[in-house]
Amino acid sequence: MPEGDLILGIETSCDDTSVALVARDGTVIACETLTQFTIHEAFGGVFPDLASRAHLTAILPAVARVMHVIGDDRARLAAIAVTRGPGLIGSLLVGVNAAQALGLAWDKPVIGVNHLRGHLRSPDLDTQRLVFPALMLLASGGHTLLAHLPGPAQITLLGQTRDDSMGECYDKVARMLGYPMPGGPAIDRMARLGQPRFDLPRPMLKEGFAFSFSGLKSSVARLIERQPALAETDAGRADVAASFVQACLEIAETKLDRALRAHPSASVVVVGGVAASAQLRARMQALAGRHGITACLPPLTWATDNAAMIALAGWDYLAQGINPGLRADPALGLNDW
Ligand code: KG4
Ligand code: ZN
Repeated sequence: MPEGDLILGIETSCDDTSVALVARDGTVIACETLTQFTIHEAFGGVFPDLASRAHLTAILPAVARVMHVIGDDRARLAAIAVTRGPGLIGSLLVGVNAAQALGLAWDKPVIGVNHLRGHLRSPDLDTQRLVFPALMLLASGGHTLLAHLPGPAQITLLGQTRDDSMGECYDKVARMLGYPMPGGPAIDRMARLGQPRFDLPRPMLKEGFAFSFSGLKSSVARLIERQPALAETDAGRADVAASFVQACLEIAETKLDRALRAHPSASVVVVGGVAASAQLRARMQALAGRHGITACLPPLTWATDNAAMIALAGWDYLAQGINPGLRADPALGLNDW
């Protein structure tokens, strides 16, 4: 194990440039996350080329500001951990390249980290919360999957989405209703004000652990096409959001409930950007309560993409002597390192 009590984490897999310093026990010493919403807003989604360019401008100044918090004391760094996938290739390359250069210049080991393993460790930031065996729902902008984790290093994928991710649907429904990026928080907020009075489908609810969201998304689109006035008032928007969120929550809860019966666990872990949803968090707490187990949720700040979770995952790689190298891989899977 290299000397040093902190890992410098770097995350640039999508549209957030994030740099953090994290201790082995998950204490976050510093974290700076710069979002790019204003850049991508006009395109209605992340525009990959502009995302890479924005990372390029933001990354080194962010590293400088974060290192300033520890008086630029590089001796405190045990390693640099950087997301090498999954994500947008151009965005990943900016982070990996920056980490590689810093590692060379500062003579520090550089660890390529799987972004999904970062999300998985996010509930242990600031305070240790994960309890094993665990059942995990990862719901982000790029992924929606269920996995069983007998222990911290063992991951069995139970099922994943066959089409859109849950976060992507939140974002697309937000766009249909005219909300700016990021759409997820807007839908989450409006849904709390509305009545779930529209009957929307819950695809693949009845069986299995896999998900499908595209039918639900299309049904919302058709509803708004038939009744355009719904997207023109706060009351209408709130009712559409409430109906959509109700469907998503029922899907998540039903699948998790089924998975908990098949794989008895000590906790239910919900990670990824959608884990910032107040309604999803409340439903997961209630589900865990009914099963007499713990709900392990990341603090709100650490649910969406950030470099602190990448640094904490980096400590796992160091402890287990794993370094998969720095090959950026847009299609890295849950079981990859
Ligand atoms: O994990 P994340 O930051 O990025 C990916 O790895 O994809 O997840 C981003 C997703 C977006 O779709 C965003 O709309 C959604 O998480 N999200 C939310 C909330 N905050 C972010 N969805 C529902 N409620 C929220 N409060
Ligand atoms: Zn993510």
